[in-house]
Amino acid sequence: MRTALVTGASRGIGAAIVAQFRNDGYRVLAPTRAELDLTYNSSIDSYLSRLKHPVDILVNDAGINRVAALEAMTLEDVEETFQINLLAAFRLTQELAPVMRLNNFGRVVNISSIWSVVSHLGRTSYAMSKSALNAMTRSLAVELAPDNVLINAVAPGYVMTDLTRENNTAVDIEKICRMIPANRLAEPNEIAFVVSFLCSEQNSYLTGQTVIVDGGYTCL
Ligand SMILES: NC(=O)c1ccc[n+]([C@@H]2O[C@H](COP(=O)([O-])OP(=O)(O)OC[C@H]3O[C@@H](n4cnc5c(N)ncnc54)[C@H](OP(=O)(O)O)[C@@H]3O)[C@@H](O)[C@H]2O)c1
Repeated sequence: MRTALVTGASRGIGAAIVAQFRNDGYRVLAPTRAELDLTYNSSIDSYLSRLKHPVDILVNDAGINRVAALEAMTLEDVEETFQINLLAAFRLTQELAPVMRLNNFGRVVNISSIWSVVSHLGRTSYAMSKSALNAMTRSLAVELAPDNVLINAVAPGYVMTDLTRENNTAVDIEKICRMIPANRLAEPNEIAFVVSFLCSEQNSYLTGQTVIVDGGYTCL
């Protein structure tokens, strides 16, 4: 049985990925913040040292988005965003990839965002971290592909989760729906389906890509 580790699984997109993976028949590790706090490298090291099974599938889903204009951005906020959205994903991949390579099977999906490829006011630190996540995905794909370790990013558009509700009013959300060709936000399970395929054995050749799942938003 394959083992999948999903960060940020307490709610939103991460919780939908966990539900999908259980359906796919994986043993799913979905640590709570108390078990794995990505703010602290010591927490990452300690969580990894307690793992009982080799991890075949890693989904770096946890993320934060501190919306602020340039003048209001603090270096601490930028550093925290980079730590959780990028460096924690890097550390987990670096620690777990060697066993995937030995087993000649591994799948990593990094949850990025459309703000890694197009822009929006106040999203500078978030966009910087997610663009770097796409770059990490491409670079590691090249390095790991010979050992059948495939690594991709999924870049959702607007998904109906706490993060979206925190950063957008109900009126904003109505306006956003009118800007999306699909006329609505995504549900978390619509992102989970794509992640499920990328992590499966059916995906045998797709690597290094940032797959945009946005109802057509970035096509306009
Ligand atoms: N929602 C969207 O429209 C959207 C669009 C594009 C991309 N994304 C990306 O999709 C991912 C999930 O987003 P979401 O909307 O589902 O988010 P969410 O509902 O806000 O949930 C965030 C998740 O990340 C976890 N998390 C945050 N900081 C953490 C830390 N320091 N250590 C461990 N876990 C931490 C949270 O855990 P706690 O419950 O403990 O706080 C929670 O499980 C993120 O990477 C986000 O950038 C979301």
